[in-house]
Amino acid sequence: MQLLTEKDRREQDERIKKRMSRIKYKFIVISGKGGVGKTTVSINLAYGLATRGHGVGILDVDIHGPNTPKMLGVESARLTFSEEGIEPIDVLPNLKVVSLSLFGQVDEGPVIWRGPLKMGIIKQMLADVHWGDLDYMIVDSPPGTGDEPLSVCQLIPDIVGAIIVTTPQDVAILDSRKSVLFAQKLSVPVVGIIENMSGFACPHCARQIDLFGTGGGERAAQDLKVPFLGRIPIEPDIVKLSDSGEPFVHFRKGTATAGILDEIIEKIIAHVRAKPPADRSDSSETSPADQGRENAAPARGPEREKRGSGPRRE
Ligand SMILES: Nc1ncnc2c1ncn2[C@@H]1O[C@H](COP(=O)(O)OP(=O)(O)OP(=O)(O)O)[C@@H](O)[C@H]1O
Ligand SMILES: [Mg+2]
Repeated sequence: MQLLTEKDRREQDERIKKRMSRIKYKFIVISGKGGVGKTTVSINLAYGLATRGHGVGILDVDIHGPNTPKMLGVESARLTFSEEGIEPIDVLPNLKVVSLSLFGQVDEGPVIWRGPLKMGIIKQMLADVHWGDLDYMIVDSPPGTGDEPLSVCQLIPDIVGAIIVTTPQDVAILDSRKSVLFAQKLSVPVVGIIENMSGFACPHCARQIDLFGTGGGERAAQDLKVPFLGRIPIEPDIVKLSDSGEPFVHFRKGTATAGILDEIIEKIIAHVRAKPPADRSDSSETSPADQGRENAAPARGPEREKRGSGPRRE
């Protein structure tokens, strides 16, 4: 890895500030454990916001298993470079995505990334991607409370908040607690908990079957005193559509599950209307994982610039 000089670092921090100041509302999607539907939620929220006319970016910071491009049907696209920086891939004219997998194939098998290296790549994604003016950014992260979500929360001081995805089992409360504590430790507001894979309607008799139980996410939200955003059932078509790169919220519009996703999207829009993002850059909270980090977070939250006229309805 190329070592950055102090001056390089300062310049990179400045670029992050500038780029991020042009994106109004930034969210991170996190979970206590893997496979609960973070990427599914991220792409559906982003797509739903974009089809409402907002300018949206998805940043996939899952370095070991980046799969937003596949779920958005752009996995064979490759990022290009312009004078403005790295050009994201357009899924729709107003929906852009950047993911490590879009930089090109790594054929040599799994890459071992140490913490500082992960922070370095995430910094680069924030500093050098030419997102332009956006209304929303959804950051999809790997499971747990490791380097990737930590870097994002440190590097974006005015992040609106964390959306926590969990499953309905009782252990969801334990998993969600970790995510909530992580966000609180970093002074990142918790936007709410989504309970995914909650119940299943039998396709033959429409009877409700609670495969993994139901209500754990909602109970977790009550226990942890954070908002509950909604309950998404198990939906076989979600798997099929994810594999073919078609977000359910749009490609199954009119179904009950798409309606639930729409309600969650409306809650998120209502949230940003009610609560402008707080600048957490004065927070002195750090976690043990900070120790030995290559780079410090930028000192100050983005100063708002005058915005261009991105597509939006607000
Ligand atoms: N509500 C749902 N109904 C049916 N299948 C679902 C649902 N939500 C997600 N899935 C499927 O579950 C699998 C895991 O989902 P996804 O990749 O979104 O989870 P993740 O939390 O991002 O995983 P990871 O922790 O590995 O990043 C995918 O095959 C996805 O299509
Ligand atoms: Mg994922």
